[in-house]
Amino acid sequence: MLLAISLVILAYLLGSVSTAIVACRLSGLPDPRTQGSGNPGATNVLRAGSKKAAIITLLGDLLKGLAPVFLAKALGLDGFALAAAALAAFLGHLFPLYHQFKGGKGVATALGVLLGLSWMVGLLTLLTWLLAAGLTRISSVGALVAATAAPIYVAVIVGDAWITGMSCLLALLIYWRHRANLRRILAGEESRIGRP
Ligand code: G3P
Repeated sequence: MLLAISLVILAYLLGSVSTAIVACRLSGLPDPRTQGSGNPGATNVLRAGSKKAAIITLLGDLLKGLAPVFLAKALGLDGFALAAAALAAFLGHLFPLYHQFKGGKGVATALGVLLGLSWMVGLLTLLTWLLAAGLTRISSVGALVAATAAPIYVAVIVGDAWITGMSCLLALLIYWRHRANLRRILAGEESRIGRP
């Protein structure tokens, strides 16, 4: 029990580190929260003009989700405890302790969580994102379609009720975080990948 609680706290603290803010600072770019969509995420860092910083952001945010799930599994945790550690990392990204609880939209961190739970689920989710974003050239469309599909992949491949429930919660939080994107998509005003 103590182990599970410690891991949940650790996962939240790790999730709270904003890779986008750190990568932009190290690359001499402006704070991503003051640019473009204002989101501290890889898409907005790319918009700010650095492919390298965007890739670092993507990988860093992904690792924040992957590492706690990997650790939880290595420690023999499953079901509720595993789901709680995964959710804590994701919530750290959305509501970071070090940034006044104002974080990102959670797409890369959720992908890391899913890859940690099952490489097959993670791969299918990534392919779904690539397909939807590739066809539309809109990152948020990729995120929304992948968030819709992921709980189905989890239910079929992982099957555990706690993990499936947690993945549904991740999807709902991703939709909620993308509400402004959704409005822009419906109005035909959402920016396309590679364009400002
Ligand atoms: O991962 C975030 C992406 O889905 C949308 O980012 O900057 O276009 O709001 P952005």
